[in-house]
Amino acid sequence: MLELLPAPPADPLWDLTAEYAADPRPERLNLVLGVYRDHTGVTPVMAAVKEAEIRLAERSGSKEYLGLSGNTAFNRAMLTTVLGTEALTARATAVQTVAGTGALRLLADLVRQTRPGTTVWISDPAYVNHRPILEGAGLTVRPYRWLDPAGRPDGADLLEDLREAGPGDVVLLQGCCHNPTGADPSFTLWEELAGLAEANGWIPFVDLAYHGLGDGLDADLRPTRMLAERLPEVLIAVSCSKNFGLYSDRTGCAVVVGSSARALRHVETALQNAARTLYSMPPDHGAAVVATVLEDERLKAVWLAELEVMRRRVTANRTDLVAHLAALGHEEEAAALARQKGMFSMLPLTPERMRGMRHRSGVYGTTSGRINIAGVPAHRIPFLARGIADALRAPSGAGTV
Ligand SMILES: Cc1ncc(COP(=O)(O)O)c(C=O)c1O
Repeated sequence: MLELLPAPPADPLWDLTAEYAADPRPERLNLVLGVYRDHTGVTPVMAAVKEAEIRLAERSGSKEYLGLSGNTAFNRAMLTTVLGTEALTARATAVQTVAGTGALRLLADLVRQTRPGTTVWISDPAYVNHRPILEGAGLTVRPYRWLDPAGRPDGADLLEDLREAGPGDVVLLQGCCHNPTGADPSFTLWEELAGLAEANGWIPFVDLAYHGLGDGLDADLRPTRMLAERLPEVLIAVSCSKNFGLYSDRTGCAVVVGSSARALRHVETALQNAARTLYSMPPDHGAAVVATVLEDERLKAVWLAELEVMRRRVTANRTDLVAHLAALGHEEEAAALARQKGMFSMLPLTPERMRGMRHRSGVYGTTSGRINIAGVPAHRIPFLARGIADALRAPSGAGTV
């Protein structure tokens, strides 16, 4: 039977990671995946996480099944952290998921169970996994333009496209630090989007994967909280992969803000049913760690301080890259990079020039032009800037090893 399987498309990001691993040049730089690395190039276990893990290991716990909603202390802590006020948490329910990806998939499933054939609007460009996840759940996907010609998401195009989203449609918005562009709307534009949703009856579906790494935790969550305050229904996929550094522990949460207690009870059961048929229950370890950190004021303060150090490092990397690029004569490109936020930057390089940069300088980003700013050790920024400058200047973009 397996002979019948047509060759499936390979995942481009993991393919590039394998190409990087096979590249013998010691100076090569892997900026493909969205992973934070400290100044030594290591993705650290945060001190607050480590301490929580020690506490959990010392507790004579049990590994009995937790139930379909996962770790309930984690779910409570996530509601409070994301929504901020009691008034909002009272209008919401949360189910632990297998990281942010699991939350996206479970919420997509919820939409399909509620209204099969729903149209979900995603940004163009979008996070590479948005379309496959939504289509995999049986939903119809339509793109809306994200950037105006100046590379800002405040162009008329975005609003013009979303004016076509109608009642019952769902609009997927990244809450902060847009992947892949690093370009976020102003708060005024967020308010315009809320107004459009109110007027036309579409439901915001917020993907929160990088909160804390843009302008700070509360500032990054402000648009999501504003949407939840103004609109009757909001879906929120939360990932703890980046801001707790729990990438491999697959920790996340599906949050739904709803208009009635009855609807929220149905939502929780529908999310549980979706999880039951996909993986039954999420793994507990990461969620137990996050709950331990967030329930302890001292540990929470340690985590917030560490998150702030990470955020500042990412910001400092970008500022440094901007300065080096400008010094190499690329002021315009540097100014565009300076406007971006979070772990990613979108370089003004064609796929051909991105490939050329990979071959010529050993700088690995995605062919779409995205690089992970948070993955560069600080002392390698001049090397990265030179690689980008060479790629910008190369006559055809092509390069040889
Ligand atoms: C925008 C966005 N959403 C969701 C995710 C999923 O994160 P995870 O499943 O690792 O928590 C990512 C990961 O890169 C992302 O960039």
